[in-house]
Amino acid sequence: MNPENPVLRIAISDVGRHVGESVEIAGWLYNLRRGGKICFPQVRDGSGVIQCVAVKSNLPEETFETLKDLTQESSLIVRGKLRAEPRAHGGYELDVESAQIVQRVPEDMPYPITPKEHGIDFLMDHRHLWLRSRRQHAALRVRHEVIKAIREYFDSNGFILVDTPIFTPAACEGTSTLFEVNYFDEEKLYLTQSGQLYGEATAMAFGKVYNFGPVFRAERSKTRRHLTEFWMVEPEMAYADLEDIKRVGEELIVAVIGRVLENRKEELKDLERDVSKLEAVRAPFHRMSYDEAVVKLQAKGSEIQWGTDFGNTDETLLTDDLDRPVMVDRYPSRVKAFYFQPAADRPEVAMGVDFIAPEGYGEVIGGGQRIHDMDLLLRRLKEHNLPTEAFDWYLDLRRYGSVPHAGFGMGVERFVAWMCGLEHIRETIAFPRMLYRTRP
Ligand code: 4AD
Ligand code: MG
Repeated sequence: MNPENPVLRIAISDVGRHVGESVEIAGWLYNLRRGGKICFPQVRDGSGVIQCVAVKSNLPEETFETLKDLTQESSLIVRGKLRAEPRAHGGYELDVESAQIVQRVPEDMPYPITPKEHGIDFLMDHRHLWLRSRRQHAALRVRHEVIKAIREYFDSNGFILVDTPIFTPAACEGTSTLFEVNYFDEEKLYLTQSGQLYGEATAMAFGKVYNFGPVFRAERSKTRRHLTEFWMVEPEMAYADLEDIKRVGEELIVAVIGRVLENRKEELKDLERDVSKLEAVRAPFHRMSYDEAVVKLQAKGSEIQWGTDFGNTDETLLTDDLDRPVMVDRYPSRVKAFYFQPAADRPEVAMGVDFIAPEGYGEVIGGGQRIHDMDLLLRRLKEHNLPTEAFDWYLDLRRYGSVPHAGFGMGVERFVAWMCGLEHIRETIAFPRMLYRTRP
């Protein structure tokens, strides 16, 4: 390749704007088909994949021979002319004029992930490489879109982003799922399970806020919906109640799905997602009380009794005849965290809501109205055996201008799994942390 003769380097996602031009693409060899006098290296560059055509008679002998025997995932820079080719994946092809190999993957240590089937443990052990595969790549690009759309929704609806700490001195969601950390001088801290308590403080300062970050749960659940480290977005609003957060949660979901459908068509296609299922998700969502949900579940054969929380199978059963999420509210207080406001007419139920997604994706949003009365909150902390000293700052929010307020948390990975139609949540984050998976 001649360095004196610069050619425009472009991203594969932009090839459509350069048809007929000679361009340069820097990437990796994704796949290779070959005949005697021609070969077809498929090159990926992170933004897409393009099929290149290398014809023996048009190239220096050495270039053709190098390309013809190139090993999978070798890094290379190719130059050539772009052509529209309706039969090619993506719609374009590049006629190779020259090529430079940056690093050749040695023959005796080939790239471990081949087009043949691999077991999930093997793929997870090679997650750092697996991310290059088409489906994984697509899922993480959908994740990126989901995160962007979530921020866009809150930013354009008057919410201020105020991120909350990860090292925390107290539990938010109950003490049984805390990861302990040794802080300096033997003080014990915990990795946060939810930024909510701090979100309540920032809501009293800014009115409408959200925090967006990683949270940690020491849950011994080995299900397709659970990670021990996941990302949660948590809006919190002062002067708001249960109905307000239902409206916001519904609007948020509709807005994010709209963006994913609009901007990630190619990725959804690579994932073989049935997009009609996502297109069906419109407001208004279904609504029912916990009481009604229990009756519905029992009628469908569930063993559930009033007073217990739903398991994965209950959530799936509850939505298997629905085309859009259902908002289930007013759960028994005793299955919920200490901070839930009780219903005025029925103190045994909490003013909380779960959004349960269709197609078996389960709870994607959980939230509710918080206790704003000081005495009641103190009583609840004691009932839950939580140390009131650690919550003194939180109690200040009830001492100084307490108002009804509400918020929720949406788990990014559950949401992305639903968007992508993925069987398991582990493919929605680059490096998942689960009960039995902490590497790579
Ligand atoms: O329902 P959760 O536990 O609610 C809270 O933590 C509240 N403090 C949030 C708030 O009101 N600000 O969790 C919220 C969401 C769930 O609906 C689910 O989407 C996700 O977080 N989630 C998980 N995602 C992946 N792995 C896990 N182990 C999860 N646990 C909860
Ligand atoms: Mg929940």
